[in-house]
Amino acid sequence: MILSTQLPLFPEAASTIAPEVDALYFFLIAVSSFFAILIFSLVFFFAIRYRRRSESERPRPIVGSLKLELLWTVIPLILSMVMFAWGAKVYYDIYTPPTDALNIYVVGKQWMWKLQHPEGVREINELHVPVGAKVRLTMTSEDVIHSFYIPAFRIKMDVLPGRYTTVWFEATRPGKYHLFCAEYCGTQHSNMIGSVYALEPDAYEDWLSGASAQALSMAEAGRQIFHQADCVTCHLSDDPLGPSLSGLYGSRVQLDSGETVVADQEYIRESILNPNAKIVAGYESVMPTYRGLLNEEEILQLIAYIRSINDISGTDGGSAATERMESDQ
Ligand code: CUA
Repeated sequence: MILSTQLPLFPEAASTIAPEVDALYFFLIAVSSFFAILIFSLVFFFAIRYRRRSESERPRPIVGSLKLELLWTVIPLILSMVMFAWGAKVYYDIYTPPTDALNIYVVGKQWMWKLQHPEGVREINELHVPVGAKVRLTMTSEDVIHSFYIPAFRIKMDVLPGRYTTVWFEATRPGKYHLFCAEYCGTQHSNMIGSVYALEPDAYEDWLSGASAQALSMAEAGRQIFHQADCVTCHLSDDPLGPSLSGLYGSRVQLDSGETVVADQEYIRESILNPNAKIVAGYESVMPTYRGLLNEEEILQLIAYIRSINDISGTDGGSAATERMESDQ
């Protein structure tokens, strides 16, 4: 919307979803304004037109009018259904990440944002993204509820402890934009802010290769944890104690309860922290919990590693190149 970039009342619009959100918002304002003006005008008009002219004047009682009843039922019904359908469409667009999106991982922690790129670059309270690319955020919290909010992109999503939430965006204009925490999360909530840098694709590549030169990719970092935390002892080959994890990500897992579940990031996270919740058929419940031993960032790295051993046959290597978004939502 042209309006939103000129009026200081609105934040900049710098994502593909922003015009959609703004259009719906302007529609809501237009409908509300129309009826507010209509009602106020009629109040004044009727107050004058039908004022009592003498003490003895009594208005004729109105018994009812089907036509009127239908009119003020059907018109609001149509209007609210339009709002509902339109709003549902925009909501669906925002919260359904495209499958070819770039993955970035967010961990909220009192009171900072920690971000990781699959290539291994880690940022605190800063996020660099390329313009014109779809970016999918997988988010969780180390402690309390936070909310990840980029007004210029018109996205806001709660960041919850104990589970993953996702949201996506595609930046349309290079620039520096505000990042806020939009959920009161303690004394320093108001300082839980940051900046999002939308860069032209070339500039982004330069930034990424510069920043990731020293860094281990998430999958490589996960591979190290896999060895350090001794996951490797039971999970590398088909051990009697634990199932092999290669090819696990995204597959269907048969549980000893008879159920089958899809091995998505939520399932793997639960299996690390609460191994007894879901036992794979044919195995005993012998795995210890890693709650308190691994932080959320490390769990995300482990998941990235497990994801990376999906299509590297026969090796236990981790490559960021295999880091791609599967339809696990
Ligand atoms: Cu985190 Cu408010």
